[in-house]
Amino acid sequence: MAGASYDTRRGELTTYFDRTAVEAWSRLTSDAPVSRIRATVRAGRDAMRGTLLAWLPADMTGLRLLDAGCGTGALSVEAARRGAEVVAIDVSPTLVGLARERLPAIPGAGRIEFRVGDMLDPSLGRFDHVVAMDSLIHYRAADIVRALAVLGTRTEGSVLFTVAPRTALLTVMHAAGKFFPRGDRSPAIVPVTEGGLRRRISAEPALNGFTWAQSHRVNSGFYLSNAIALTRAARASHPRPDPEVPERNGGLEGALQPAARSLEPSFEAAAQHLRMRGMDGTGGTAA
Ligand SMILES: C[S@@+](CC[C@H](N)C(=O)[O-])C[C@H]1O[C@@H](n2cnc3c(N)ncnc32)[C@H](O)[C@@H]1O
Repeated sequence: MAGASYDTRRGELTTYFDRTAVEAWSRLTSDAPVSRIRATVRAGRDAMRGTLLAWLPADMTGLRLLDAGCGTGALSVEAARRGAEVVAIDVSPTLVGLARERLPAIPGAGRIEFRVGDMLDPSLGRFDHVVAMDSLIHYRAADIVRALAVLGTRTEGSVLFTVAPRTALLTVMHAAGKFFPRGDRSPAIVPVTEGGLRRRISAEPALNGFTWAQSHRVNSGFYLSNAIALTRAARASHPRPDPEVPERNGGLEGALQPAARSLEPSFEAAAQHLRMRGMDGTGGTAA
């Protein structure tokens, strides 16, 4: 079970991605001209997709991949081109419809089955790899890890996902943003610290068979996101922290990171983080 807060947030995201932001999202994920701000988001998202694809096998013939929160399906198409049997699922029927419309001819054995619904639906079956690109960033850390646990039990190879990194200035500005009216803002992105996330993953029994294999940050103008690879392979690039050892950089719900360690180099950088929501089409108001 994913939990009540997961279900509530999924409902908000369905409304948002299926109605409020569907036009902006459709445009952002096409070749149509966009504002300079959104061009940086598009470039960042392209780079992130490239990172996640680079972590998948070059030949995916016969492998099952879940594109969890597929949006308009760009990653699914690339995986299918490598021969993968892709299940592409999203809670937004409109975005899945767009993905179907945009689907190019896929030469070779690869294919995509589009589904509307929850990425955690057990009827989707088992997978060799799961990718959740920017589809868990609006969920609380506890819900992210519960979702990873559910996905992990159905995955033989790797679970690749992204999170919004938490930084000191982002936290301050999010707090300040609570004084602004909500308007048509998206459901808030929930930034997480790497240390806090590692600790939660280490403490999740369903993820015991997985190793935190690698991570990579993409920072492109108004887009900021961390890619993380959990794999069943034994090799790790970083040791896992002891779950009993307090996190030095501040936990997920802990105090601000010490400013000297984590302050962004410029106000502009902080504004970029704050405006990450430009990626989902609301134009970048304070959170
Ligand atoms: C920021 S978009 C990213 C879409 C796509 N992964 C990409 O990178 O282009 C997040 C997507 O996740 C979908 N989503 C959020 N929660 C979901 C859930 N629980 N199950 C399936 N889709 C979900 C949203 O509807 C939205 O299309």
